[in-house]
Amino acid sequence: MKINLQNQDLFENRHHGKDDEELQGMLDVVGASSLDELIDQTLPATIRLQKPLNLPSPKTEQAFLKGIKKIARKNLLFKSYIGGGYYDTITPNVILRNILENPAWYTAYTPYQAEIAQGRLEMLLNFQTLVTDLTGMEIANGSLLDEATAAAEAMTMFYAVKPAAKKQANTFFVSELCHPQTIDLVHTRATPVGIKVVVGDHTQVDLQDESLYGALLQYPANNGEVIDYTDFIAQAHEANILVATAADLLSLALLKSPGEMGADAVVGSSQRFGVPMGYGGPHAAFFATRAEYKRSLPGRIIGVSVDAEGNRALRMALQTREQHIRREKATSNICTAQVLLAVIAAGYAVYHGPEGIKNIALRVHGLTQLFVNTITQFHYKVLTDQYFDTVTIETPLGPKLKEQAEKWGVNLGYNKNGTVTVAMDEAKTFSDVIDLLNIFAEVSGFSGEMVIEEEVESGLAESLLRQSPYLTHPVFNTHHTEHEMLRYLKVLENKDLSLVHSMISLGSCTMKLNATAEMIPLTWPEFANIHPFAPTAQVGGYAQLIIELNAWLCEITGFAAMSFQPNSGAQGEYAGLMAIRAYHASRGDQHRNVALIPASAHGTNPASAVMAGMKVVVTKCDQKGNIDVADLKAKAELHANNLACLMVTYPSTHGVYEESIIEICEVIHSHGGQVYMDGANMNAQVGLTSPASIGADVCHLNLHKTFCIPHGGGGPGVGPIGVAEHLVPFLPSHVSYNKLPEHLEDGQAGAVSAAPYGSASILTISYAYIAMMGAEGLTNATKLAILNANYIKERLREHYDVLYTGTNGRCAHEMILDCRAFKAAGIEAEDLAKRLMDYGFHAPTLSFPVAGTLMIEPTESESKAELDRFCDTMIAIRQEISEVQNGEADPKDNVLKNAPHTMRVVMDEAWARSYSREKAVFPLPHLRFNKFWPSVSRVDSAYGDRNLICACIPVEAYAEVE
Ligand SMILES: Cc1ncc(COP(=O)(O)O)c(C=O)c1O
Repeated sequence: MKINLQNQDLFENRHHGKDDEELQGMLDVVGASSLDELIDQTLPATIRLQKPLNLPSPKTEQAFLKGIKKIARKNLLFKSYIGGGYYDTITPNVILRNILENPAWYTAYTPYQAEIAQGRLEMLLNFQTLVTDLTGMEIANGSLLDEATAAAEAMTMFYAVKPAAKKQANTFFVSELCHPQTIDLVHTRATPVGIKVVVGDHTQVDLQDESLYGALLQYPANNGEVIDYTDFIAQAHEANILVATAADLLSLALLKSPGEMGADAVVGSSQRFGVPMGYGGPHAAFFATRAEYKRSLPGRIIGVSVDAEGNRALRMALQTREQHIRREKATSNICTAQVLLAVIAAGYAVYHGPEGIKNIALRVHGLTQLFVNTITQFHYKVLTDQYFDTVTIETPLGPKLKEQAEKWGVNLGYNKNGTVTVAMDEAKTFSDVIDLLNIFAEVSGFSGEMVIEEEVESGLAESLLRQSPYLTHPVFNTHHTEHEMLRYLKVLENKDLSLVHSMISLGSCTMKLNATAEMIPLTWPEFANIHPFAPTAQVGGYAQLIIELNAWLCEITGFAAMSFQPNSGAQGEYAGLMAIRAYHASRGDQHRNVALIPASAHGTNPASAVMAGMKVVVTKCDQKGNIDVADLKAKAELHANNLACLMVTYPSTHGVYEESIIEICEVIHSHGGQVYMDGANMNAQVGLTSPASIGADVCHLNLHKTFCIPHGGGGPGVGPIGVAEHLVPFLPSHVSYNKLPEHLEDGQAGAVSAAPYGSASILTISYAYIAMMGAEGLTNATKLAILNANYIKERLREHYDVLYTGTNGRCAHEMILDCRAFKAAGIEAEDLAKRLMDYGFHAPTLSFPVAGTLMIEPTESESKAELDRFCDTMIAIRQEISEVQNGEADPKDNVLKNAPHTMRVVMDEAWARSYSREKAVFPLPHLRFNKFWPSVSRVDSAYGDRNLICACIPVEAYAEVE
């Protein structure tokens, strides 16, 4: 017996869902003799890559983990006192293991299907309650991308809602005491939409200036000063100026809230509520405001409603508005947010409760007080008068301090004006502070005896202290022991359907395997506990990871360079369009501002174009869903003089590889425009074709789709952009690259995220995926994604109409099922979506890009058995539709209209439906042995919008509202 010693357990075989026999069976069904024949029939020959990808050979899981451990060790774990919006924190272990490291939480999708998402909806409601309570505001959303983005959103929201008296006003004041990364990003976002940003001292600003409509303040300020803005806000209001405050959530446990000072919006980051710094992210930002602005609030709001039985049920509120991404009327483009991180922050507040949070805040403040009380003994001058956790010190010893501190593994904040900032956090102990003081003492030459107090008296003025209660709801006052918390988390987890239950065939969202090995490194301290502004010399691991991933993605896309700054696909679109804008400006073509966008595009495309200051011109699609080339040519010609770009998704959101794509790109280029490719469908390109080879100049990738970053229940995401050579100088810059925004010339790009590398810690996931798959594995993934989609198409062919296909009748990696004909029998696509829940499946993408349809994307990771289970389900549902159509089933009282069925409903003694309980909940035999129970019946969306409640209220109080 010969034994092959190289026969290792290949990761690719675990990622792809099938063996050779299954593969052959599927090819037989689709009528192709081989996988390559199917690909030849599907992808136009003109766009095929001519040679295989050049990537390192694939690693086994074990070899990968060993290798990345070495990389991780190149990140040096210094104690960070840098602050400035990022703080060390302690993720409670019960949360680390049961949320952050738990696929049941991290593989869920955005909670559009509320009936199978009540767990994360409840945690998001807790998050909104946490934010409204601490900020003292009336309403908050279920997270934004980062603090700087949230501040920019406040600027644009104020612009949209400003009072009539300020109709012409377009100046936004930003306090110079805001975090530099916030000032940087606000500059970027203001310019294209015609807002003028003035940065200065808030005590000096002329509030009578007619052009001023809004202001942004920082609380506590970047230098640590706790300033009572009550008078400033009152004076601003008198002058019809709206005021936003960027606030530190932890400090609000001790300090008077911005809401009590009269702020109109409060933004910030919830990072220090248990979410590691991760070299910049991901973290959940928050946005709280007055209830009167609820329809203008960016991002998603979770609201309380009722289900078909009148029970309390949660859902995404005011959804029909998707107000902020309403195509060319957009005010924002937030689609993917930071749900997983908001869930963690909410969990942190639930676990610690108001007393626990206050104790943490007190300890952090106390350590700061101890530091100040002691350091003055060594003749340092503390410039901050009223502080919570941060102080700024005037000293000529800055460089010496830096040298000495780094010797002891300590990072401080070194400011451009020579001052030094020290920020305390939850992870610091009494002895850490003593060590820090010793460094300051040594540098100053202090040789006396340091007097250390065991107890300190807070120096905060009484008038700054918080008097109002917070987190009074029972949810924040119940689960403080680990057992209670564990069980609460389990109760919520059990309500949500995720990839741990079944395939999620969401078209355009690529819900593929998020392998465990890919997820392991990101919570290692060497990746998790690194401040985004840590000195370059300490982040060799991140540098290597980013450089290698950059090179691999360039190879995959055919581009010259990537920027990892954008922290979602839509932010990538914005960054890409800003690069195009800057490129045109650098050539004196500032007037080029028309973006051509096909009707089939995702809503974020036109929204991003509007934010980049472009004028959206929509081009038509033909009967088959292809871009109407004649219309596109005509419009490109019509707008030739002002053409900035085309935004095109490839393959299109209709699931077809447009044959004409190369010609389309040439038309745009011939009129002086650039081609922006939306890379959301990159899962249908990798290894077979590429954005650059097709003719695109810039493209974003959704790493949270194609490259395995899990969706986290609605975020995090990462949306890096790749650009051709000529656009490289226009990639996003960042204040930490030493280019101050006010010094950027026309034609230079600013920051699009708070952190220089966006959500850096989760880049480890995509890095892992590519490292373990290798070139062949990645290419096979694309081929199998196409096979799986065509297999489903063939299996469902006799039962459903597929809306669009390519020349040979093949679909790309996804397809659209037309459900509009069922409407005559009273059955909507939504009824199918809800009925799928009774069968244990999440619905495909509903009514996008065509109303009344379902878009199915199976991905490469599903086995034939799972695909068959899904197809059998769809066929069984089709049979149920027929029963309604031919009068066998009641037109109203049927399994589709009443779906989903909860355990409560079917166990009711008074069951009086026109069909059996068995048909309701066990329509296929296997469900008897593996049943997922939706926790609420169909949610009443209209009720929730009419009675908008976006924070936790006791269930009894809710009954009164009813
Ligand atoms: C085609 C397309 N473009 C852009 C986006 C936006 O990406 P993100 O949600 O990461 O902002 C999506 C998201 O689903 C999409 O499907």
